[in-house]
Formats: sequence, C-alpha cells, structure tokens
Amino acid sequence: MKTYKIVLLPGDGVGPEVTQVAHDVLATVADLHHRRFTFETHLIGGAAIDATGEPLPEATLEACRTSDAVFLGAVGGPKWDKAAKRPEQGLLGLRKELGLFANIRPLFIYPELVERSPLKREYVENVDFVVFRELTGGLYFGERERGPTFASDQCVYTSGEVERIARSAFAAARARRGKVTSVDKANVLETSRLWREVVTRVAADYPDVELEHALVDSMSMQLIRQPRAYDVILTENMFGDILSDEASVLGGSIGLAPSASLGVGGPGLFEPVHGSAPDIAGQDICNPVGGILSAALLLRYGLRLNDEADAVEAAVETTIARGARTKDLGGQLGCRAMGQTIIERIKDASAPARHQVQMHWG
Ligand code: IPM
Ligand code: MG
Repeated sequence: MKTYKIVLLPGDGVGPEVTQVAHDVLATVADLHHRRFTFETHLIGGAAIDATGEPLPEATLEACRTSDAVFLGAVGGPKWDKAAKRPEQGLLGLRKELGLFANIRPLFIYPELVERSPLKREYVENVDFVVFRELTGGLYFGERERGPTFASDQCVYTSGEVERIARSAFAAARARRGKVTSVDKANVLETSRLWREVVTRVAADYPDVELEHALVDSMSMQLIRQPRAYDVILTENMFGDILSDEASVLGGSIGLAPSASLGVGGPGLFEPVHGSAPDIAGQDICNPVGGILSAALLLRYGLRLNDEADAVEAAVETTIARGARTKDLGGQLGCRAMGQTIIERIKDASAPARHQVQMHWG
C-alpha cells in the first residue's frame, strides 16, 4: 500500500486550530478508505521566527520538498509587524521554492447560505467560479528598493510565466462551463499588455473555450454586479490576491473558502483563504470549513484521491444543509465542534458503501 506523506504547517493565529481539524478529517478519510497517510508537523511564519529566527526554516522546506502534499493553516499577525523578518516571507518562500505558480480558489455558494451573503439572493444564487491566480511572479517577487524618501517594487512577467498559468486556466474551463475571463490592466501596464497578448495566443489552442478580457478596476465592480457571469477568472499575482478576497465574501463568509497552490511534479500546498485572524485566535470560534475544503482539494489535486475528496465535500455539504453553523455564519458551534460534526457525517456516509462491498464478497 502506498504511504502518502503529508506535511502540516499550522503557522499563526487560527492556523493551528484549523490545521488540527484538517488533520482529523484526513486521518478519518484515510481510515475509512484504507489509505496510509503519515503526518509531519513543521514550523512556518511567525511561529518559526519565534522558534528559529527564520520564517521558513531549512527543515520545513526539506520536509515539504520530500512530501506528497502540504497543508498550511495561516501565517502572520501584529506581533511580528516590527520584526526584521516577516511571517509572510515563509509562505512566499515556500511558493517560490516549490514552484507553485498556480493558485486556485474555487468559489460557490451553498444554497442554505445564500442569505448569509452580503449580496441579494438574485445576484448570488448558483454562483460558481474559480480564480486562477499566477503565484510566483509579478510584484510579489520583483526587485525591491528602499531609500530614505523613496521605495520601489518591480513588476516583471515573462511570456512563459503567463503561458503556463493561462494553459492551466483554459484546461480547467474546458472541464467546466467553457469560459475564461482574463483580468489585467492593459490600458496602463506593460506587463498587462504582454499578459493579454499571451493569453489571446493560448486561447487559439482552446477554440471551444470562450475568452473575454476585463480590466481589473471594472472587474472588481462586475464581480459584485454579476458574479454568476464567471466560470474561470485568470489573473496575475497581485490582482488575484485582491480579487480572491473580494470573491470570498460572496459565499457568505471568508471562513468557507479553500485554496490549492500547484506546480509541476512536486507537492502542492493547500490552505484556507482566510488569514491568521489574530483577533479570534485560540478561542475555538473560527470556521474550520475553509480548512476542511482545502483538505479535500489536497486529496483531489495533491494525492489524486477523488473518492476521498468527494466524501469530504459531500460531508461538508450535508452538514451545512442540516443547519450546523459556526459564529461567522450566525451559529453557535466552535471550530472543533463543527469539525467533529463533519467528521461524523464522513463516517455515516461511508457506512453503506462498506456494507455493499461486504454483500458483494458474500
Ligand atoms: C494570500 C495571502 C498572502 C498573499 C499573504 C499572506 C502573503 O494574502 O494567500 O492571498 O498576499 O498572497
Ligand atoms: Mg490574500
């Protein structure tokens, strides 16, 4: 039996709480589906700075490199605002070192949570899109300079970097509703003009996929006005960072949103979209669903275990349909209790399947 090595990086703030729940979910699924997972926990972010002085210790990086998938809770917090090194450098370093150029953030709305969305029902019902954000280029990784009275951050993109994320987005659209909305600022930025050219060229290889271009300022408005119009949203690093936070509130709470960061060949990184939320950390009140759905993405895209991923997603769906709610969704359940409710659903749902196998063998 193959053993899958999963590295857990709890990090800061609510990170450890959601990572614990994600671990318990993964361990449950492994048990029910007869898979062997090993878990290794390592330091990242502020927690790593406190313990070692480095936001991404060598031991962490090495463990991730030799893993099958990485789960990350969250990094950052006001505690390290004045530190020489920032917790975020841990996450950015990991993205770069693992070559995770594609950040994938699906957004859909559970029918039972439509009333929790800040938008009216007629705008958000049936919203279902996915953001493909380029993750290892642009402003995030350009050269930086700082003088006493000036600062600069360089934004560089190569056509190769644009092409690989564009191809991932078109391939995804092909398996979905066949539409890519590419977001840039081509009326101002040279990198965006390159972006638009390359994306248009790539689109020629996917004649069955519709391509539209949008300027990022207008897109931030349209995302609220007509969120149902989107299928795959393709964009560069900084615009994707901003638009994906905007998108995450449509679903009712940022606490629900999962993400996957993927490269070629190596392990992927899976993390909830919500950050470290230091104001509610350690109180067992954060929503574990974003983390649990990230664990489902880890199963599906990290380990290629589709049935296991389905089981987790179905359990979350049923749990929400039956009315279980954390505080961010107007409910009473704590992080652990919500996690436990979902774990019970996973176990329930598995029972009939195992029974059928026994019948068959009998
Ligand atoms: C995200 C976060 C990160 C980013 C931070 C923590 C560096 O906001 O994953 O969206 O800006 O990419
Ligand atoms: Mg962000």
